[in-house]
Amino acid sequence: MHQHAETTLRDGTTISDLINHETREVKVRALSDPELYELEMERIFAKTWIFLGHETEIPNKGDFVTRDMGSDAVIVARDRDNEIHVSLNVCPHRAMRVQTHDAGNTNVHMCIYHGWAFKPNGDFIGAPIEKECMHGKMTPKDQLGLKKARVALYGGLIFATWNIDGPSLEEFFGDAKYYFDTLFLRTKGGLEVLGPPQRFRINANWKTACEQSAADGFHTLTLHRWLGEVGPYAKKPDAEGKGADLSPEMYGSEVWTDHGHALRCIELDRKIVRLTGKDPAELTPAEKLTVLPPPGITPAMVPELLERFDDGQLKLMSWRPPQVGGFFPNGLFEFIYLPQPDGTIIGACALHAYIPKGPDKLEFMNWIFAEKDTPPELKARMLRQSVQMLGTSGMVEMEDSDTWPHQTEVAKGAMSKTITMKYQALFENGAPEGWPGPGHVGDGFTKDDTQWAWWKYWHELMTSEK
Ligand code: FES
Ligand SMILES: [Fe+2]
Repeated sequence: MHQHAETTLRDGTTISDLINHETREVKVRALSDPELYELEMERIFAKTWIFLGHETEIPNKGDFVTRDMGSDAVIVARDRDNEIHVSLNVCPHRAMRVQTHDAGNTNVHMCIYHGWAFKPNGDFIGAPIEKECMHGKMTPKDQLGLKKARVALYGGLIFATWNIDGPSLEEFFGDAKYYFDTLFLRTKGGLEVLGPPQRFRINANWKTACEQSAADGFHTLTLHRWLGEVGPYAKKPDAEGKGADLSPEMYGSEVWTDHGHALRCIELDRKIVRLTGKDPAELTPAEKLTVLPPPGITPAMVPELLERFDDGQLKLMSWRPPQVGGFFPNGLFEFIYLPQPDGTIIGACALHAYIPKGPDKLEFMNWIFAEKDTPPELKARMLRQSVQMLGTSGMVEMEDSDTWPHQTEVAKGAMSKTITMKYQALFENGAPEGWPGPGHVGDGFTKDDTQWAWWKYWHELMTSEK
């Protein structure tokens, strides 16, 4: 259980002064404050499970990538026994960054400063001129390794935490796991990354991106308006509804958990009607999944889904699959169905991580995925679509990443930092009838509950002593 303690910031404000649980408001100051940033690195990023990448980025023994867990640099490496390890990328000799490459293959990570050497699991191997006693007499060798994080793999996704005795990854996912399984555990072959992640820097506080990644659907109607005007969701001239009305895409069910994870489960019925001309209520989940398989899945792969999932999950996948959402604190997934000009639908599977780089800087990382068993031509199309939509040059992310620096910048204003952000659009209707999954569920048009749950957990961690 968390012990609640109130940390007082330099001007006498407490963390709880920044959040009003009754009116669901958060002080704008929270988006830029450097003091809060330092606390977040300790209380959130050094405590929770952090998403670092995918095991298919390091398929061979000795492969490694360097990543960040909040403000800490780490080495993610595969050892001779195929185990994946995450170690602090800081030399215990004089604090040099041990591994200075982004990625590579080696069984010895040698510090370029004085040559101390470490195994992929972080163990100390030795130092040069050992016989001269250059690695010291005072500390035994087995205590000279890199600091090791606790690692968990889930569907090939690599997560790590410094909270060695804390909750398991499964406990941290909680109710969200039921839904995540339908995205990340779909086939025996599993997912694979389509190339190394794209990375770019944005002048914004990590929370601006991350509270949005807690399933904010509202902004799609305005910020991404082109999607309905000229983009993949644009209506044909003879179709029903107004040309640029994206709001039907914002209906479905939203799910949020006590640990700040969020999922936007968007209804597929309209697409199924368009593809089959039939009433979706008359089709079984298997039939629906065959006419409109999840992103990266082909009709031929559907029998595997039927074997792996229970009736509830199959119902969800064929009715309102999770398409956008986030894992707390800094991950976002997009498993979306993109209509094509020829009437077909292509899926895109992407993950983003927003890595804090200071109170007003973040690194945006973008991984694109497909199932290993996805046919190569479909993989190539998914990659192209995803880059065009969701990558560094992708329209959608260019738009999103234009809002975050503005929010961060204005949050520094003497007056603006005192006003509040409002999360008052409420689902008060609960889950729709027949909803198979757990968690807090709201039905209908996208609202603020998912992002509010994100802030609630932020507050819980920020005021927790443990
Ligand atoms: S700092 Fe790494 S060997 Fe000295
Ligand atoms: Fe967006």
